[in-house]
Amino acid sequence: MTLSKPLILAIETSCDETAVALLSEDGEVVHHCLYSQEIHAAWGGVVPEAAARAHAERLPSQLRHVLREARCDITQLGWIAATTGPGLMGGLMVGVMMAKAMAMALRVPFVAVNHLEAHLLSARIEQSCPCPYGMLLVSGGHTELWLVEDVGVYRHWGRSLDDAAGEAFDKTARLLGLGYPGGALLEQWAARGCASAVDALPRPRIDKNDCDFSFSGLKTAVAQLVAREEKNGTLSDQRKCDIAAAVQEAICDVIVNRCRRAMTKLCDGERRVFAAAGGVAANKMLRQRLQAAASDEGLSFVAPAPHLCTDNAIMIGWVAREYLQAGVALPSDLQQEPNPRWRIATVV
Ligand code: KG4
Ligand code: ZN
Repeated sequence: MTLSKPLILAIETSCDETAVALLSEDGEVVHHCLYSQEIHAAWGGVVPEAAARAHAERLPSQLRHVLREARCDITQLGWIAATTGPGLMGGLMVGVMMAKAMAMALRVPFVAVNHLEAHLLSARIEQSCPCPYGMLLVSGGHTELWLVEDVGVYRHWGRSLDDAAGEAFDKTARLLGLGYPGGALLEQWAARGCASAVDALPRPRIDKNDCDFSFSGLKTAVAQLVAREEKNGTLSDQRKCDIAAAVQEAICDVIVNRCRRAMTKLCDGERRVFAAAGGVAANKMLRQRLQAAASDEGLSFVAPAPHLCTDNAIMIGWVAREYLQAGVALPSDLQQEPNPRWRIATVV
């Protein structure tokens, strides 16, 4: 393939995936690749120092691979985008420094992308998801409800007051010894379990009159349950499946209940779309339950394909593409430093 128009090169290194993507200005994914760092499995969670080192080792070959597969000469790159926050500082520094160095050498803009904004806009990568739309952003570090009024115009509706839903999945998987990364494995174990075989788990903040979440009470209840079962010698593989199913159901109950509140805010006007993205939105039960809730409320439901829900570089390049298409000034500034706690600018 001979590519003539300038391309967007995107880098994602905020956590434990080293990912690179090449997009056209029209939003077509020319090529992409993703390496999920395996080293963290031994520790049962992401070790920031090890993650940064693995990004530094892998990123150059990932870049070479994508450019080679796309038969892209570096002079065809028109923008270099990188996740600049939030995330783990070491990994962010690796991606941002590489992107800035390339941008300076090629004399093209460096685009600083907010990882959460990338999840918010990821609903629009492969399907129609017209603004404004309500959005559940549910990942390893964040559980939030937003109104996406337009590209760059975001209204915050609610967030978890303690742990993220992804943490509740990951912590349960760790307690049950299911392996890492936890959420997807817990989903597999849950498929062989029976939730009703486990005494009811708490559903924190259910039916509260706002859009905030809480998961810490559920996490504590699961820790106590697993400790009890271990002490009694009853934690068989089947029992682990049952507990996994019960936890998945409780987390979905909490999320769907909070999302229903957000959906009622959408029902009063032109806004007819509810979307979900972020790693936990790859969960099948959650997707089905949100789809059903949205259709009860007369809304359409949009969720990206699972590989676009979990961290990837396509969504990072997509943010640059959205800004370019909307004619909005790109968040492009070589002075912008990696920011582990970078929050999305909101309207009130
Ligand atoms: O968006 P993401 O890849 O990274 C962050 O930005 O945090 O989300 C990762 C989170 C982890 O907590 C992971 O366990 C969870 O998403 N996750 C899932 C599934 N796939 C990933 N949780 C439940 N079911 C899944 N299938
Ligand atoms: Zn993410």
